[in-house]
Parts: sequence; C-alpha cells; structure tokens
Amino acid sequence: MESPSQAPHSGSSLWKGFLLTASILSCWIQPTSAQSDSFSVVPNPPYGTVGSSVILDIQGLSQQPPSYTWYRKAVIPSNRIAFYHVANGQLTASDSRLNVSSNGSLSISNLTLSDTDDYFVQLFDPTSSEIVTAQGHLAVYGSLSKPTISSTNMAPVENKDNVSLTCQSESQEVTYLVWSINQSSPAGDRIVLSPDNRTLTIINVTREDQGPYECEIQNPVSVNRSDPFTLNIVYGPDTPVIVPTDPNYPVGANLELLCSGDSNPPAQYTWFFNGILTVSTPQLSILNVSLNHTGTYSCIASNSVTGLSSSKDINITVSETASKPTITANSTNVMENSTLVFTCNTEHEGMNILWFFNNKSLSLNEGQYLSDGDLILTVKNVTRKHAGSYQCEIWNPISSNRSDPLEVTVNYGPDDILFSPSPAGDEIRVIFQQSLTLVCQVESYPPAQYEWRVNVTVSPEFTNNTYIIQNVSWEDSGQYTCLAWNNVTELSVSKAVTVRVIEQPPEGGSGSSLSGGAIAGIVIGVIAGVALVGFLIYFLFFRPSGGASEHHDTEHKSSAPNHRQTNSDSSPNRTEEVSYASVNFNAQKPLATAQLPSHTDTVYSEIKKK
Ligand SMILES: *[C@@H]1O[C@H](CO)[C@@H](O)[C@H](O)[C@H]1NC(C)=O
Ligand SMILES: *[C@@H]1O[C@H](CO)[C@@H](O)[C@H](O)[C@H]1NC(C)=O
Ligand SMILES: *[C@@H]1O[C@H](CO)[C@@H](O)[C@H](O)[C@H]1NC(C)=O
Ligand SMILES: *[C@@H]1O[C@H](CO)[C@@H](O)[C@H](O)[C@H]1NC(C)=O
Ligand SMILES: *[C@@H]1O[C@H](CO)[C@@H](O)[C@H](O)[C@H]1NC(C)=O
Ligand SMILES: *[C@@H]1O[C@H](CO)[C@@H](O)[C@H](O)[C@H]1NC(C)=O
Ligand SMILES: *[C@@H]1O[C@H](CO)[C@@H](O)[C@H](O)[C@H]1NC(C)=O
Ligand SMILES: *[C@@H]1O[C@H](CO)[C@@H](O)[C@H](O)[C@H]1NC(C)=O
Ligand SMILES: *[C@@H]1O[C@H](CO)[C@@H](O)[C@H](O)[C@H]1NC(C)=O
Ligand SMILES: *[C@@H]1O[C@H](CO)[C@@H](O)[C@H](O)[C@H]1NC(C)=O
Ligand SMILES: *[C@@H]1O[C@H](CO)[C@@H](O)[C@H](O)[C@H]1NC(C)=O
Ligand SMILES: *[C@@H]1O[C@H](CO)[C@@H](O)[C@H](O)[C@H]1NC(C)=O
Repeated sequence: MESPSQAPHSGSSLWKGFLLTASILSCWIQPTSAQSDSFSVVPNPPYGTVGSSVILDIQGLSQQPPSYTWYRKAVIPSNRIAFYHVANGQLTASDSRLNVSSNGSLSISNLTLSDTDDYFVQLFDPTSSEIVTAQGHLAVYGSLSKPTISSTNMAPVENKDNVSLTCQSESQEVTYLVWSINQSSPAGDRIVLSPDNRTLTIINVTREDQGPYECEIQNPVSVNRSDPFTLNIVYGPDTPVIVPTDPNYPVGANLELLCSGDSNPPAQYTWFFNGILTVSTPQLSILNVSLNHTGTYSCIASNSVTGLSSSKDINITVSETASKPTITANSTNVMENSTLVFTCNTEHEGMNILWFFNNKSLSLNEGQYLSDGDLILTVKNVTRKHAGSYQCEIWNPISSNRSDPLEVTVNYGPDDILFSPSPAGDEIRVIFQQSLTLVCQVESYPPAQYEWRVNVTVSPEFTNNTYIIQNVSWEDSGQYTCLAWNNVTELSVSKAVTVRVIEQPPEGGSGSSLSGGAIAGIVIGVIAGVALVGFLIYFLFFRPSGGASEHHDTEHKSSAPNHRQTNSDSSPNRTEEVSYASVNFNAQKPLATAQLPSHTDTVYSEIKKK
C-alpha cells in the first residue's frame, strides 16, 4: 500500500491541509462515530474482475456530506486511500487507479487480485450530525488456471488399497469445486469427499474405479476443468479363458489354443500338457496332432505385481476320422422263426455304434440284443417284419460313417387263405350266365404257387390265385378248392368254398325300378302294337306261325339304350374289373329269387352280346 505522502498529486500542500483537518476531525469524532447498519458500501458489479473496474457505492445516504474519506482494511490514518472534498471537487488519492465521484462512490480501475479487501468510507452525516463509517467487501476474481489431479498411490491394488485424489489449483479465489467420475457425480459407499471437495478418497479400489476422474473449479467469473485422470489399478489375473473350447480334434489337425485372463499389468502365461511345462506364451500350437496328444492342457496366468495367479484346464481328445464300416449277416435270406446275426465291421476301436433298420434308428425289441461293444446285433425269432435294409453307423465326436445297406429277405407263409368275394357261410352264389371270378389270397414270401380243384378234379388251366368262369352254367356249381404253397418254406395251405349257381333275382333289386318300369311299358306297348299288326296281317294274308322272330328283334332294339343306363355300374368295365371286383357284382344283384318277366331275360342276354 502506498503511503498517502507518496501520492503523486498536484496539490500536496492542499493534501496536507485536508489530512490535518481529517486527522483532527477523526480524532475528535472517532469516539462518537458509529458504524451504522443503515450505511453500507456495495461493490457494483458485486465482484471485481482482474483488469476491469468496479465502483464502491455508498448506500443509505440521504444528504450530501461535505467530504468522503476512504480506507482499506481498517479505519486508521495509515490505511487511508482517498479523500474527496465536495465543495471544491478536490480529490486526494493514494493510487492513480482510484477516483471518487461527486456522490462519494469510489471507483477502482485496472483491478488486480490484490484489490480484494474490506473497504470503509467515513463521512459526516448532516442528517444525524454524526460522523459515520460504512463498510463493504470487494472480491476480485481472475480467470482460473487449469487444476491438476494428484494421487496418493500411482498403482493401487484391487480389493486392497485406498487411494486419495486431490484437485490442485494455483488460483486462490476458488468458490466451488466439483468432481466427476466417468462423467458422472461421485457416488457409492467407498467414495469419501473432504469438506472442501478438494480431496476424493476411494476405499478398497476395484478395477471399475479407474475413472477417468476430472475436477472442476469455479469462481464467479471463470470455470476450469482438469485433464482426465485415470487410475492405474493393479488387479488380476482372473481365471483365464481358453479358446477355442471345442475339445475334439481329428488326427492331423492343428491344435491352436489361446489363453487369456484379465489382468493389469497383463498376465504372464505358461502352458502345461499332462503336467509338463510346454510353452510360456499365451498361445499354444501343435501342428499335425496325433492320438497321443490327447490329454489335459493347463494354462496358468500370473501377475507379477499382485503376485497372484490362476489357471484353467481343457481336456483335448484327438480321434481318428471314422471310415466307412461294412455290415454282414450270417444270412440275408432266412426263414421266419430263425435267428439272424449281424456284424458291423470297422478297423477303428472305441467308436460308438448305431444300428439302422429301413433308414430309421433301430429300437431293440424283445429277442433282439447287441453284444461285443454293440458291434453284433442278434435278432431271434425273425418275423416277416424284420425283412428290410440294415445299416450300422460308427461315430466319434469328430465324425460318423454309415455302412451300405444290407437287404434281408424273410421267407414265410402261406398261413391262411381268404377268398374274394368272401363267402356268406362257406357259399358263394353266382347268377346263371354271369361271370364268376374267385380270388384266393395268402400272405407268403416268396409268393405262393397255386392249384385249383373243382369237386375233386384239378383244373390245370388255373395256376395263379384267380379262377374265372366267363359264363356260368348250372353245372358249374360245386366245391372249389384253392391250394397255395411256398416252395422255400415248404409250407402249404388249402381251403374250399362252395359255389352255387342261381337264377336272376328280381329287377327291383337293381335299384332302377323306374327305368325298369319304363322299359316294361315301352316293351309291352311295342309288343301289343306288333301283335296287333301281326294279327291283322295274319288275318289278311296267311295263317302260318312265324311272327316270333320279328317280335324278338323289335324288343332287342328298343331295350338296348335303357339297358346301358341301368347297368352302367357293372357292365362297361366288366372285363377290367373281373379279376377283383366280383364283390361289387354280388352286391348289386341281390339273391332273392323271383319270377322274372320275359323281357328282363332279353335285357341280360343283350349284355352278353356286348
Ligand atoms: C490501466 O491499464 C491500461 C492497460 O491495461 C493502461 O493503459 C492504463 O494506463 C492503466 N490505467 C491506470 C490508471 O493505471
Ligand atoms: C475522476 O472522475 C472525474 C469525473 O468522473 C473526472 O473528471 C476525473 O478526470 C477523474 N479523475 C481521474 C484521476 O481519473
Ligand atoms: C475390499 O473388498 C474385498 C471384496 O469386496 C474384501 O474382500 C476385502 O476384505 C476388502 N478390503 C478391505 C481392506 O476393506
Ligand atoms: C462440493 O461439491 C458439491 C457437489 O458435488 C457442491 O454441492 C458443494 O457446494 C461443493 N462444496 C464446495 C466447498 O465446493
Ligand atoms: C506321439 O507319437 C508320435 C509317433 O506317433 C511321436 O513321434 C511323438 O513323440 C509322440 N508325442 C508324444 C507327446 O508322446
Ligand atoms: C479332464 O480330465 C480329468 C481326468 O481325465 C478330469 O479329472 C478333469 O475334471 C477334466 N477336466 C475338465 C476341464 O474336463
Ligand atoms: C414260425 O413259427 C410259427 C409259430 O411258432 C409258425 O406258425 C410258422 O409257420 C413258423 N414259420 C416258419 C416259416 O416256419
Ligand atoms: C446265424 O447264427 C446264429 C448263431 O451262430 C445261429 O443260431 C443261426 O441259426 C444262424 N442263422 C442262419 C440263418 O444261419
Ligand atoms: C421264439 O420262439 C420260440 C419257439 O417258437 C419260443 O419258445 C420263444 O419264446 C420265442 N422267443 C421270442 C423272444 O419270441
Ligand atoms: C392268372 O393267370 C391268367 C392266365 O392263366 C392270367 O390271364 C391272369 O392275368 C393271371 N392273374 C393274375 C392275378 O396273375
Ligand atoms: C360237382 O359235383 C356236383 C354234385 O356232386 C355236381 O352237381 C356238379 O356239377 C359238379 N361240378 C362240376 C364242375 O363238375
Ligand atoms: C421255387 O419256385 C420258383 C418258381 O417256380 C423257382 O424259380 C424257384 O427256383 C423255386 N425254388 C425252390 C427253392 O425250389
């Protein structure tokens, strides 16, 4: 602080005069002067900024005093900084940066940080006739320099050390200090802030605490933020991970394993094979592996700073690639009830075996079992259901291979005969002059051979399972015997059925009575007409009998179209269906006997002509 005598001012004698006056005044008034609450000194703006100016206003003054005396820090003569005499506008200031305006306010220009202080003004208040002193504080702020973060521990160990970070700033007038961790506010039980926010302490650090940390300082005119600070937290190694994880390798493959465990500083790695040190790198590679590379591979990761280590094993299996097996059986063509033994042939050992039947995985039933490490399949009491294709498959974790199919045929039967049409109580009825198709069905492999007998006589013309008579006559009634035999199983079976030839059932049973009635009407009408004409001719010209043949022709023509509609179910396809469709024929012609009108006979004879 400059002393008042050093103030460069034109009127130094004048200064002395005022000084004297003020001194006297102050000495005289001091005991009675008061620092009234109604007067105050208020900076405008409220704080100063380095390099700019501020005005300290006096508030609470209602009447102009004769003079103003300004002090800094304390109201003592040595701290007086300006005196202003209102009447003549004379200013005496200790510093060229100071000026007092006519209303007494003190302006300070070119502010520096050291202008921060308490300021006083003393004056004579005409209202109260007292000497009063008013006081105010001026704070001057400069722009803040960037703070820095310092740490008590440059390499704290995870789950062990505490660490304190301090925000350091060269600036004195910091009004506010905040921290951010990872761009968010500090939070959590393990984080402790000092009361002034300057120091942040993290208790028992973890690797997640590495930050980055930033601290920010503020004053009313400036903000500044530290560079991000990252804690180097020492941790690990964690349990390592080995990749790839597939434990199976074919012979000749390259084994490349990579071990990694999270660690700071990075871990050191060593590999052991079945307990023998192999390499000291994170990577283990073995080219062209053979079967004896099967075993346990262990990776050990260690951290020299934490002194910790951890390990991980992988069990590698090296296997051969399965080559195609073959399947054999002690027979591929067997009798029912015999025993079949299949063998899966492979050069490999220790393979898994699967059996397939007709391309589906074989499920073992009673009487079937596997032996010799599943390489042998035995099927006891072979049945016809066991005929089909057999395969075996070998597999290991890296490969599988299936044999070609082996076809097995099973010879069986014949065991039972079924006739078609099926007899009603051992008897098959067939209408006179219809056709008869008898089919004898058996189950057999290889297919059965057949012999037919009628009554007791062998019918050599029928050598398969079908017996046909195109136009049944009354003499065809009798006992028909089908004999089936299998020349491999040497089994045979025979069965007889009685065939009875019967008359045509009534037409009503055909399900077409309407058209039958129509036919009857037309036919009767035509017959009547022709008979009348014939009768007239007979009477007019001659009397010999011969009209019957003409009579027949006429009937034939008129009935033909109707007949087609009536029997369309059975007649058009007759020749194609004959071998198997006799059931239909039977159903359509109920066997109830009835008097048959003569014209219906004509209709059926027409069918046979077709
Ligand atoms: C205030 O500072 C400016 C430069 O910043 C200078 O030109 C001026 O003379 C100074 N005024 C006083 C009163 O010191
Ligand atoms: C003080 O202020 C007055 C009026 O505001 C002005 O005329 C005068 O030049 C100033 N003095 C100084 C030393 O700046
Ligand atoms: C630090 O934390 C770990 C786990 O959270 C705990 O096991 C250990 O005891 C703690 N250490 C201290 C000094 O608190
Ligand atoms: C400390 O920081 C908090 C916010 O994080 C703030 O509210 C408080 O005022 C600060 N204290 C100091 C002394 O800066
Ligand atoms: C594995 O067997 C091969 C010969 O097949 C031999 O050369 C090699 O040394 C064996 N390796 C080990 C690890 O025993
Ligand atoms: C590896 O195999 C050994 C014995 O063969 C077994 O004790 C161990 O648990 C296996 N390790 C893994 C990771 O499967
Ligand atoms: C198999 O045995 C069953 C009853 O045991 C018998 O009916 C059948 O004829 C036999 N099959 C052959 C082909 O011998
Ligand atoms: C197949 O071998 C088994 C056992 O040796 C035997 O019992 C069975 O009769 C043989 N089957 C044939 C069809 O040879
Ligand atoms: C196989 O057939 C024999 C005789 O036919 C019989 O005693 C045995 O129970 C049958 N076994 C099975 C599993 O069907
Ligand atoms: C049966 O043999 C006859 C010849 O004798 C033939 O026309 C007919 O098609 C054969 N039927 C079957 C089902 O083989
Ligand atoms: C079968 O025998 C009966 C009577 O014994 C006879 O009426 C019938 O005509 C015979 N059938 C044949 C086709 O010989
Ligand atoms: C069975 O009969 C068929 C056809 O007649 C013939 O080809 C085959 O050789 C016969 N088999 C035996 C074992 O007699």
